[in-house]
Amino acid sequence: MTASETRPLTATRSFPPGFLWGAATAAYQIEGAAAEDGRTPSIWDTFSHTPGKVFEGHTGDVAVDHYHRFREDVGIMSELGLNAYRFSVSWSRVQPTGRGPAVQKGLDFYRALVDELLAAGIAPALTLYHWDLPQELEDAGGWPERSTAERFAEYAGILADALGDRVTRWTTLNEPWCSAFLGYGSGVHAPGRTDPVDSLRAAHHLNLGHGLAVQALRSALPADRQIAVSLNLHEVRPLTESAEDRDAARRIDAVGNRIWLGPMLEGAYPEDLLADTAHLTDWSFVRDGDAAAARQQLDLLAINYYTPTVVSHVPEGSEKPQDDGHGNSEHSPWPGADSVAFHRAPGERTAMGWPVDASALYDLLRRVSAAYPDLPLVISENGAAYEDEVAEDGSVHDPERAAYVHAHLEAVHRALADGVDVRGYFLWSLLDNFEWAYGYAKRFGAVRVDYDTLERTPKSSARWYARVARSGELHVPYSD
Ligand code: FCB
Repeated sequence: MTASETRPLTATRSFPPGFLWGAATAAYQIEGAAAEDGRTPSIWDTFSHTPGKVFEGHTGDVAVDHYHRFREDVGIMSELGLNAYRFSVSWSRVQPTGRGPAVQKGLDFYRALVDELLAAGIAPALTLYHWDLPQELEDAGGWPERSTAERFAEYAGILADALGDRVTRWTTLNEPWCSAFLGYGSGVHAPGRTDPVDSLRAAHHLNLGHGLAVQALRSALPADRQIAVSLNLHEVRPLTESAEDRDAARRIDAVGNRIWLGPMLEGAYPEDLLADTAHLTDWSFVRDGDAAAARQQLDLLAINYYTPTVVSHVPEGSEKPQDDGHGNSEHSPWPGADSVAFHRAPGERTAMGWPVDASALYDLLRRVSAAYPDLPLVISENGAAYEDEVAEDGSVHDPERAAYVHAHLEAVHRALADGVDVRGYFLWSLLDNFEWAYGYAKRFGAVRVDYDTLERTPKSSARWYARVARSGELHVPYSD
């Protein structure tokens, strides 16, 4: 029996002092000002302006205009009692061509944001890359090309020089799985390419880019700075306990999780991944020393979690289930896993159709911490989209979102009670925003944004989260 299993069901769960209570956003999803102050298009500008790629042709041109309203947004965070904020930098805002010198105005924006946060007592957590590659670098081949990894390290160095004096927490990549496999495999994300070999090449150069960027950060930053990577680790569950389904889960664990954890934390690609994909590529794009370069000392592993991944084996040529959990599409984002089908568990789902299952977060935290016991963890994204209803007075009562966050915080606390070293939790997201291929149709914010007026209104879940963040205490069970 684990320590957490003996706990009372009605109680107050106290989080450790110093626990980070944050919210997360990403540049393209909130900033807008797409053509201001020297910013050039990223792959997401190009993709969102390509007909048929994003729901109803929505783009991030204006988004929620955070570029002009960041002071108000920091004010909201402060009112909510958050002590940390995770944001990303738009690469093409600070280095428009992805090469050469930085644009001062781009750097000034992030410096002003960081100063505003620090003045409010909110720790900035900066992500270098949340999917918005400068279009010029995609035109030169994008992540399937090695040079992109080298460019990324230069960009990391520019930001370290510009903001290293005031930003303590640094993250290289956000969810490289999505960049590689949704961007170059299934094509549902920018740049919208659908080639499984390119997607594996992209994965490798993201791993390499991460390692080179960590080196660049370490050489430019003061010694006490913390460096992390944010991975959307998949808690993979076989549909049945059959040997075939368990092997399907192994394959997805390889190409979903160990493809990153292997090089970044252990300095090698897993043998079974190389074997599973051998019919696609011989991996000769991996040069001697690359996997070692990808492995750099990290201070934290940041995990994004939303829903578990349930898989089964399907014999080649047979139909996959209709219920598409991302993986069963014509162009698969899972290279080498054609014989795997994805399922969505029955029961409660969010507006994304994602099953709600906080136990998978607990299992994931236990598993990762058992594998890498010396590496502290942080939840860098967790949250839910729901169909919010706006009352006549403009308020939004969204107990489902609060209940979702509550259940996942309870899972985090259970892991803490069992000795897992979790340092913080960042709610996705602070504000309603541009949800990639879904445009503005899916709302993840704790704060509502009226897309006509851009007015911000904290939802009831934001008030609830503020109480937890301020007190560091979670009352169980959840009550509205
Ligand atoms: C994650 C992304 C984030 C947001 C959430 C819902 O995969 O990192 O930008 O879209 O999903």
